[in-house]
Amino acid sequence: MKRYEDLSPSLRCIMTPGPVEVDPRVLRAMSFPVLGQFDPEFTDIMNETMAMLRKLFVTENQWAYPVDGTSRSGIEALMVSLIAPGDRVLVPIFGRFGHLLHEIAERCGAEVFTIETAWGGIFDPEEVIAAIRNVQPDVVAIVHGETSTGRVQPLAEIGRACREADALLIVDAVATIGGVPVKTDAWMLDAVVGGTQKCLSIPSGMAPVTYNARAEAKLLKRKQVERGLRTEDTAHELPVVRSNYLDLGMLQDYWSPQRLNHHTEMTSMLYALREGLRLVLEEGLEARHARHALHERALVAGLTAMGLQLYGDPASKLTVVTCVLIPEGIDGEAVRTMLLQHFGIEIASSFGPLKGKIWRIGTMGYSCRENNVLRLLGALEAVLLRQGCKLPCGPGVQAALDVYEQNVR
Ligand SMILES: Cc1ncc(COP(=O)(O)O)c(C=O)c1O
Repeated sequence: MKRYEDLSPSLRCIMTPGPVEVDPRVLRAMSFPVLGQFDPEFTDIMNETMAMLRKLFVTENQWAYPVDGTSRSGIEALMVSLIAPGDRVLVPIFGRFGHLLHEIAERCGAEVFTIETAWGGIFDPEEVIAAIRNVQPDVVAIVHGETSTGRVQPLAEIGRACREADALLIVDAVATIGGVPVKTDAWMLDAVVGGTQKCLSIPSGMAPVTYNARAEAKLLKRKQVERGLRTEDTAHELPVVRSNYLDLGMLQDYWSPQRLNHHTEMTSMLYALREGLRLVLEEGLEARHARHALHERALVAGLTAMGLQLYGDPASKLTVVTCVLIPEGIDGEAVRTMLLQHFGIEIASSFGPLKGKIWRIGTMGYSCRENNVLRLLGALEAVLLRQGCKLPCGPGVQAALDVYEQNVR
């Protein structure tokens, strides 16, 4: 009989745009004993997690809870629940994940309108506002931080325009939550989804969402209690949500004091989320954003001192993802392989039109630390020299050290 060895995954330095290294406190929380899903001790944990999520999303919304599944499950839950078949949906696209929103909106049976801007940049908010006036959408869906291109789209003006046009604004803040400011209420975002495996330093597997009363009003028009639980038939103004698992109307009943049974909550993942949120709140949102910005500055200083070129418009650079053009004549995948095999460091490749052209380096959550940034810069220089790249010896790490020394921490 084949004998399977004990699992012993390598300890990596993960400098990708997710998943990133998990904070040891989160790993510890995941090993705690399982509680029953209706045990008052567990429902208290559910309530505390909701309260902490409201702080993370900077919102007074009643509804802030995780959808079980990777971030995509949270995106689909918001879209399938808030987009009724036949709705007019506007999707501004500036990278791969905008295309994902387009794809999901189509699958929801919407009439989808897209506007696109070249990868590497973002929209002037006025372009999106003009499209909103032109299309008159029921829903606008947009990415905040595009990990495929390392750009961040300002949302405040778009939020205001959606409110004026009475359109619901759904935002993918998967990459930005916990690393970059996301101001749900101040920017008038109606529904937001965050990711766990990026700036929150929790494993992949849950998708925190929040939505306001405007969004809830639409859900309630589609709401149905599940067969086997309902005692009477309900009439609905809009078609019932086509997914059972991702129906926010049902999920919110489960997360409400009513605790109307839906799925079996992911106990260990909820412990992980709660601990990850506790870490964020202990650090403080502003301090956390400042930490991410500091390590980005050191990384960028080091990369540019090495003579490497960054990809994309600097004005819209996303703090937590740095895209680097692969130098002429260098095999990007060979560099990534050497980094992993010899130094235990992972950086990311890229998608679609950028495949083979850029590397993407994440500075997110627990991975976003001085020793990781310095280790990556030193290793990258060594690997590039080994691969025959002509670059000066030494200035990368020195430039990053200068940033750290100048910064009073
Ligand atoms: C901006 C953005 N949106 C959505 C996703 C999808 O997340 P997941 O792979 O957790 O489903 C990702 C993942 O990398 C992302 O970067």
